[in-house]
Order: sequence, then structure tokens, then C-alpha cells
Amino acid sequence: MNPPKLFTPLTIKNVTLANRIVIAPMCQYSAQDGWFNDWHFANYSKYALGKPGAVILEATAVEAIGRITHGCLGIWDDARADAIKPVVDFMKAQGAVPGIQLGHAGRKGSIQRPWHGNAALDETDAARGELPWEVIGPSPVPAGEGWLVPREMSHADIARVIGLVADAAGRADRIGMELVELHAAHGYLAQQFLSPLSNKRTDNYGGSLENRMRFLLEMVEAVRPVWPDGKPLFVRISSVDGFEGGWEIADSVVLARELKALDVDVIDCSSGGNAAAGATASSGQRGPGFQVPYAEQIKREAGIMTMAVGLILDGEQAEEILQNGRADLIAIAREAIHDPFWPRHQAQKMGVDLDFAHWPEQYGWWLDRRAQGLRQLAKAGA
Ligand SMILES: Cc1cc2nc3c(=O)[nH]c(=O)nc-3n(C[C@H](O)[C@H](O)[C@H](O)COP(=O)(O)O)c2cc1C
Repeated sequence: MNPPKLFTPLTIKNVTLANRIVIAPMCQYSAQDGWFNDWHFANYSKYALGKPGAVILEATAVEAIGRITHGCLGIWDDARADAIKPVVDFMKAQGAVPGIQLGHAGRKGSIQRPWHGNAALDETDAARGELPWEVIGPSPVPAGEGWLVPREMSHADIARVIGLVADAAGRADRIGMELVELHAAHGYLAQQFLSPLSNKRTDNYGGSLENRMRFLLEMVEAVRPVWPDGKPLFVRISSVDGFEGGWEIADSVVLARELKALDVDVIDCSSGGNAAAGATASSGQRGPGFQVPYAEQIKREAGIMTMAVGLILDGEQAEEILQNGRADLIAIAREAIHDPFWPRHQAQKMGVDLDFAHWPEQYGWWLDRRAQGLRQLAKAGA
């Protein structure tokens, strides 16, 4: 019998993921001044021990004002990048491809950590020493009521931010990252340019679809020469805004074709977020695999690899998506928080790795004996 596709490797450019499971980027809101710390090391190492194909570090800001909150990670200088390197080495030692999501929050910056309210910074935050900062965006349109009005970006700002993303990709390469994902989803800066809801510009970065895509496409053009040809480049998009008059799936297909032409390897198909409510697409009432149809349509119509994400709960569900050619990779977020060994546990449920050979050897040897012991106990009791 063939092994489940979920547990077959996938080679993208010169990088091979041992299986099709990717731990999706998840902000930890736990950095101080953008610095990677022990919490981040423990958190990402824990995911690597579960042996997914890849682990993508959270949205990491290319400049301080590009952070979402005061707790967001930054990679805007060499020292901050170097602080991330130990976990890159650890992930590789565990056989997980290390990746990082590069982001800029734009008008959705300067907000509270989720557990402080997820809204614009206020006097309670100021009392904690967390002052608001000036946010930027394509147009002076706030993300929602009570949110900061962004300063409209000049052409110099646009060129500067694009340059910062390329610099960040260069740093990611230098510290050994093997996968970069550009964050163009969830209402952050790149999506603010894409969506007519947030982009009201009348210059060549606004108006037509072609103009609204320009910022992201120029970003990719700046990143590709810096990020090695042999290393995969992913772009996460919000496949739809989910609001009347917003970004639609047909726009995503056009964008994906353009990104493919610029040597992007995978479109990570999320949705929503281009409004104040909820920093990620995970809020609200959604059913299992609710975003899979986006990954499927973009894959089929743009002829590019896609990653499905959003309420993918078990291996059987993931396998159906892969077997039916609806996506090439499966990303999980909250399931991984709940069970960092999700890849290993799903493998066993699907009849793979029954002797724990793919677990870290420090664990596998014991778990195999534990399982044998439990079987004997069960037999004796029967
Ligand atoms: C704690 C947390 C932090 C997140 N941070 C990010 C992020 O940094 N970048 C991003 O693109 N999505 C982020 N997301 C969204 C997830 O990557 C994922 O798309 C979403 O949770 C849906 O997948 P799930 O149903 O498997 O959780 C975050 C989600 C959670 C739960």
C-alpha cells in the first residue's frame, strides 16, 4: 500500500520537505523591541520536534513601525537576525525546513497584543510604556473605527519598504533560513495595497488591479535576486477580502499568475483580515477546511503550487486535500499549539511510523517500548 501522500516528501527548488505538513506562522507577541528570545526558541523548537516538513516563523517585521504590536518580532538589523539563528540550526538538526514570514503591518500596526484587547494602543498600554507609533499605508483610511489613520505612503516610502523587505530576505538567507514567505494577507501592508477597500490611491500604485498589485510584485522582484534561486519563496495572500467591493478570488488567480512569472513557488491561501476585527482569518464561524476551495482554484487556474490552511484538523482531512490535487502542502496553526506532535500522531493514526522511528531518537526508543508494554498489558488483561 502506498504511504499517505501527507507523509511523502516534496522538493521545491533545492529544498526538500520531509512531508507535506507546514507549521503556519503564528505571532507570539512575546518579543521586546523586536528581539527573538528564549520563549521563541522553545516555541519553535517544540514544533520542530514534531517533525513537520517545515516550520514558518511568525510575521517578522522589516522595520520597527512594521510591527503589529510591541511584542512582534523584528529582523530589521543584523543583530536581531543573528538572535534567530540558533533556532534555525535546531530546526535543521531535527530535519524540519526552517522558514520565516516577512511582514509589514502598515495601517494595522500599533495595536495591542490580543490578550490586551487587539485594538489601537491606549492609555493603559502607555502606562505599561507601550506608546503608539505613526502607521503608514497606501491611503489615509483606518482599518476600522478607533484605529489609527495611516500616513499615505510617498513613492520614497514605497521604495524604502520594498528595499527593507529585500534586506530582510538577505538576512534570512545569511542565518540559514531555507524558506521565506512574504506576508500579503490578513490586511497587512501588502494586502492594503491589493484591496480596493484600503487602497484609494490615484497614482500608479492604486486604481486598476494592475496598479494595486504593483507594490507586491515590485517587492517580489526586489527579493528574488537577494533570496537564492534554489530556496523556495512563498507568498501568503488573503484569497478574498470577504467584503462587498473588496478583493475577490478572480483577483487572486490573476495575482498568482503574476507571482508565478516572478518565480514565486507557492501561494499560501488564507483569507480575510482587511478590517479591524481579527488580525487573522481564524476568527469567526468557519467550517473545517473553509479556505481549501481557494487553494484549489488558485492551483488549478494559475498553475502554481498552493498551501491550504484553516481548520484542517486531522490527517485524513489533509490527505483528501492532497489526493484530490486541491493543494500541495497543508499548513496547521492552532492544531499545532494544541498538539505539537500533531504530525507524528496523525502519522500513527494513518498507519505510518508505528515503531516511532520518525520521532526524535531521544523519544522514539522509549515510546516504542512503552507501546509494546501497553500491548502486553492489554493482552494480559484480556
Ligand atoms: C496565535 C496565532 C498567531 C498567528 N499569527 C500569524 C502570523 O504571524 N502570520 C500569519 O500569516 N498568520 C497568522 N496566524 C494565522 C495562522 O497562520 C492560520 O492561518 C490560522 O490560524 C488558520 O489556521 P488553523 O485553523 O490551523 O489555526 C496566526 C494564528 C494564531 C492562532
